[in-house]
Amino acid sequence: MSSKTFSIGIIGARGHTGAELIRLVAAHPGLELAFVSSRELAGQRVADHNDAYRGDLRFENIAHDQVAARGADVVVLALPNGKSGEIVAGIDATAPGTLVVDLSADHRFDPSWYYGLPEITRGDYAGQKRISNPGCYATAMQLAIWPMLEFLAGPPQCFGVSGYSGAGTTPSDRNNPELLRDNLMPYSLVGHVHEREVSARLGVPVEFMPHVAPHFRGITMTVNMWLREPLKADWIRARYEQRYAGEPLVRVVEEAPWVSRIAGRHGVEIGGFTVSADGKRLVVVSTEDNLLKGAATQAMQNINIALGLPELAAIPPFKEVARG
Ligand SMILES: NC(=O)c1ccc[n+]([C@@H]2O[C@H](COP(=O)([O-])OP(=O)(O)OC[C@H]3O[C@@H](n4cnc5c(N)ncnc54)[C@H](OP(=O)(O)O)[C@@H]3O)[C@@H](O)[C@H]2O)c1
Repeated sequence: MSSKTFSIGIIGARGHTGAELIRLVAAHPGLELAFVSSRELAGQRVADHNDAYRGDLRFENIAHDQVAARGADVVVLALPNGKSGEIVAGIDATAPGTLVVDLSADHRFDPSWYYGLPEITRGDYAGQKRISNPGCYATAMQLAIWPMLEFLAGPPQCFGVSGYSGAGTTPSDRNNPELLRDNLMPYSLVGHVHEREVSARLGVPVEFMPHVAPHFRGITMTVNMWLREPLKADWIRARYEQRYAGEPLVRVVEEAPWVSRIAGRHGVEIGGFTVSADGKRLVVVSTEDNLLKGAATQAMQNINIALGLPELAAIPPFKEVARG
């Protein structure tokens, strides 16, 4: 690995994904946290909020037009959608060589940004300094559908269930444990941004129905696919195993994976592989931790790729560790 240490700043560091990124950066031999921005926690010690971080850094309230002047090698935007504009404009104008990774949806449809879902797009990486990190549900959907793309007879239907950390920290019904108790909350039943994201990326329409559940972290994505020709479950499973054989963060399993086994882990599990009697309807299930492979871990893969570091630097082993 290069012996250079790269500086990294996180804007939106109070949030769930920001906290996971601080953990990953703390474990990274080639990255040093230069600044972390939060309005609410400004002045407080990062170490008092994040047990993985041991330095003296404090949260700061950094004005968006001042981020570029901080001169970090890498800036990660972990802000809600629609808040990246001023920061990116400032970096474009005065520090264009800064690597920017945006966790929001703001640049996922912008062709001048690299869309970083490494297992599918790393071959397209060509030194871009602007990286858009995929949506959490969108990661689970794409990895579940991608191996079957050429066999699809119509739009896959994707039934997604997320833990409520997916709704961020700004209070809403969808992250209110009281309202979620004994409950499952359907929302955005057509036209969710991740439906548009996956349709655009895979080049086929998908139909996505999201739900929030009372658990904190982790997504279950159950995908129904109509096939052009009859196929056998064993053949399909072998196809997924082959497609992801070299992928340390994707594990293909026989049974439908459980979200309780993926929480806190850095990869995706795909399994279930059930076909109808006529062989033309397939159901596949994928699970991931929305805050890790759905956000922070994927951002770390993208940062490592862009800095020329080993893609899995700082990311704990996944596939070779026994399942919980
Ligand atoms: N949660 C997930 O599972 C997940 C997965 C993939 C992608 N994402 C995306 O990643 C981004 C961050 O998600 P998150 O769940 O970490 O969000 P979050 O927990 O709600 O945190 C958002 C962060 O942004 C800051 N913030 C909130 N409103 C702001 C505003 N109006 N202007 C400036 N800063 C503001 C907050 O800090 P202060 O209020 O203290 O400044 C906080 O640090 C979002 O775009 C989200 O869609 C989330």
